[in-house]
Amino acid sequence: MSRYDENKHDTAGNPDALSTANPAATPAAGAAATTPIGDHRLSNAALQTQCQSEHDREIPEVDLMSPLTLRGVTFRNRIAMSPMCMYSAEDGFANDFHLVHLGSRAIGGVGLVIVEATAVTVEGRISPRDMGIWKDEHIEPLARIARFVEMQGAIPGIQLAHAGRKASCDAPWNGGGSLKTPAEGGWSVIGPSPLPFYADDPLPALMSETDIEECIEAWGAAARRALNAGFKMIELHAAHGYLMHEFLSPLSNHRTDNYGGSLANRMRLLLKVAKHLRDIIPSELPFFVRISATDWADGGWDMEQSIILCRELKLLGVDLIDVSSGGVIPDARIPVTRGYQIQFAKRIRDEAQIRTGGVGLITDPQYADEIITGGQADLVFIGRELLREPYWALKAQHALAIEPEWPIQYGYAVKRRAK
Ligand SMILES: Cc1cc2nc3c(=O)[nH]c(=O)nc-3n(C[C@H](O)[C@H](O)[C@H](O)COP(=O)(O)O)c2cc1C
Repeated sequence: MSRYDENKHDTAGNPDALSTANPAATPAAGAAATTPIGDHRLSNAALQTQCQSEHDREIPEVDLMSPLTLRGVTFRNRIAMSPMCMYSAEDGFANDFHLVHLGSRAIGGVGLVIVEATAVTVEGRISPRDMGIWKDEHIEPLARIARFVEMQGAIPGIQLAHAGRKASCDAPWNGGGSLKTPAEGGWSVIGPSPLPFYADDPLPALMSETDIEECIEAWGAAARRALNAGFKMIELHAAHGYLMHEFLSPLSNHRTDNYGGSLANRMRLLLKVAKHLRDIIPSELPFFVRISATDWADGGWDMEQSIILCRELKLLGVDLIDVSSGGVIPDARIPVTRGYQIQFAKRIRDEAQIRTGGVGLITDPQYADEIITGGQADLVFIGRELLREPYWALKAQHALAIEPEWPIQYGYAVKRRAK
């Protein structure tokens, strides 16, 4: 089975209102301060002047197609291609498949293209054919993708990952089972505790404090390589039962040292890695963290802990939480329905006062638009629907009665056909 199988405020969504309440989430230091419409701190006289100057002027509302600026980076709309493993790299190297796969979604109009979970160490791969960034030689083929995506008007982002105890598995189309021995193409896996994901998986080796320090350095080196490759957004993968999530969840972390037990101890590794990455990522570039908001299991990670974590991440300079769920245990009962994780994105946005991305079974443009206009999230992440339809974002513009922003090479031709 694939480790990615699905078992496994403001003023109605005005993000300027969020950034007013949340100075740490505002764009680059030094950027001109804007006064949100209806800011309660304005005096009556100032408000009257503002209203008069806006008389008869259409005030744009924030919707799916509105640009979003985080620090010094502007996404042309609120549609992100969710990171999706393609299990098609050789020795971690991106190739022509990835260029066309990711490049066509950029041509297809999304605002942000995120390269799939990209392993920060060789043993951190889910499968032997995961994308990797553990050596400098990986930079150039990734740079080719970042250049092309940017040339098409989308922001190139990359998700950095370590699979922890869920490493060393076959590709999903081969069943996704654990590769238990080197003869099968597998390798030894590591984790917070010697607890396997499935009962018959090999026991992960408990990470020593030295292993943990080395791992933090590996994340940093990977982030530097990603920046050298030209990515304009880095996402730290702390969801879906992989290494960072394994440390967070009491179901996978039974340690008794500084990295286990209390919530503060379980969050320690993720917060250290996040701080290290934020120190490396230039201040003008945004930094996202993907979390599983809940394990969907008694005694596991949950929303209350997620809100505390997200407040800490915000203090460290994380710009957006990409809110997913599940993945740390194989038998969680997840009520998978349209937008089933959006409630978590909204609560984190409201209670941790940080921007969020919503993901999960979002396929309909009207619904995606409602998520943004309703202030439930600041970005929508689209996964499988973008596999079915690379031009989803252009079609969404059409569905929302907006002239699609065709690439220049296509626009004059397809618009002429309509006449
Ligand atoms: C083929 C496939 C590969 C995936 N790989 C990743 C990944 O690399 N990193 C990640 O965080 N999530 C991954 N996911 C989860 C998606 O990013 C997304 O969260 C999930 O599919 C739900 O969104 P959707 O209903 O729009 O597909 C993957 C999902 C699929 C279908």
